Amino acid sequence: MPSLGKKPSLASPLGSFNMQLVVLCVLLASFWTGCAGSGDWCYQTQFSCQHECNAPEKWNHANRDCAGRNQSPINIVTRKTLKDERLTPLRFENYQQIFRSSIKNNGHSVQVGVPHISTITGGGLPTTYKAVQFHLHWGDNGGPGSEHTIDGEQYPMELHIVHMKSHYTDLTTALRDKEGVAVLGFFYEKSNSANKKYEPIVNTLQSIIATNGTSSLPSISLAQLIPSEQNMTSYYRYKGSLTTPGCTESVIWTVFENPIPLSTEQLKAFSTIQFHDGKLMTNNFRPVQPLNGRQVFYSGGAVVLVSSTLLMAALVTALGLTQWN
Ligand SMILES: *[C@@H]1O[C@H](CO)[C@@H](O)[C@H](O)[C@H]1NC(C)=O
Ligand SMILES: *[C@@H]1O[C@H](CO)[C@@H](O)[C@H](O)[C@H]1NC(C)=O
Ligand SMILES: [Zn+2]
Repeated sequence: MPSLGKKPSLASPLGSFNMQLVVLCVLLASFWTGCAGSGDWCYQTQFSCQHECNAPEKWNHANRDCAGRNQSPINIVTRKTLKDERLTPLRFENYQQIFRSSIKNNGHSVQVGVPHISTITGGGLPTTYKAVQFHLHWGDNGGPGSEHTIDGEQYPMELHIVHMKSHYTDLTTALRDKEGVAVLGFFYEKSNSANKKYEPIVNTLQSIIATNGTSSLPSISLAQLIPSEQNMTSYYRYKGSLTTPGCTESVIWTVFENPIPLSTEQLKAFSTIQFHDGKLMTNNFRPVQPLNGRQVFYSGGAVVLVSSTLLMAALVTALGLTQWN
């Protein structure tokens, strides 16, 4: 056995006391500053002891609205949704309009500003809303990454087209109105072939790898990014919030059932861009939030069998809903 040499004199009563003090200080320090989470908000994948930030469970430290009772996203339990005849197909105006814009890595997602000319109306919305911007949430190299889930199923990516009531000029003002913002959410699904309509976006990702990276986008229209109108008649509706801080509860959500196809390669391209610390931007979705008694409505693209008691319940709820609109 090799000798370990003379032991350091930690065994003296004073040395041991000092050691305890050091341990105590380190412990206290870690409670105050260490992995407790402080500073900017971030997604769980960004969090580490080296990079202290408020992960989703601590977003209420960034903004107390994030602990509200009407938060998004949610898991949609399809058998608990209520079919609402007033949820007719939305009317899309100027969605075909081709525009030039830029795409930005904003440190949380990729975002594209949209000229305020495309509008949505109908579909049970209280008024006309105009498109402001769109952005996406995704997983890790095509893995689960949508924000909303359907019966627990998470899709690889989700598109959010953010709209505000047409008389507002900025989102900040619109968010002060309980129904000021309407977001259209679309899921993506893996397909065997590339979706050519997404090439302008996918091909530009490589030039916005770094946070704050911005690049001009070839001409696109909103219509080319979403399913055909006949494939958008089935959707879910509920009232929720922004899915990033400040988590403002001013959003009428429309989540479409029919997903947009993208190839695995196209989905993977999103996992090549980076958060501000250089980590790959993956899993930039917020976990689902409690429903807290909210009802999710369904546009009723499909016929469902209902018992007479369920029908009565639906009627009563529908009557109670006249004040909602
Ligand atoms: C509409 O949906 C069907 C079935 O999911 C799909 O095969 C078709 O490609 C879609 N069409 C468009 C234009 O999105
Ligand atoms: C990105 O831009 C914002 C605002 O201009 C700035 O505060 C931030 O430090 C920038 N982040 C990086 C990583 O460059
Ligand atoms: Zn979003």
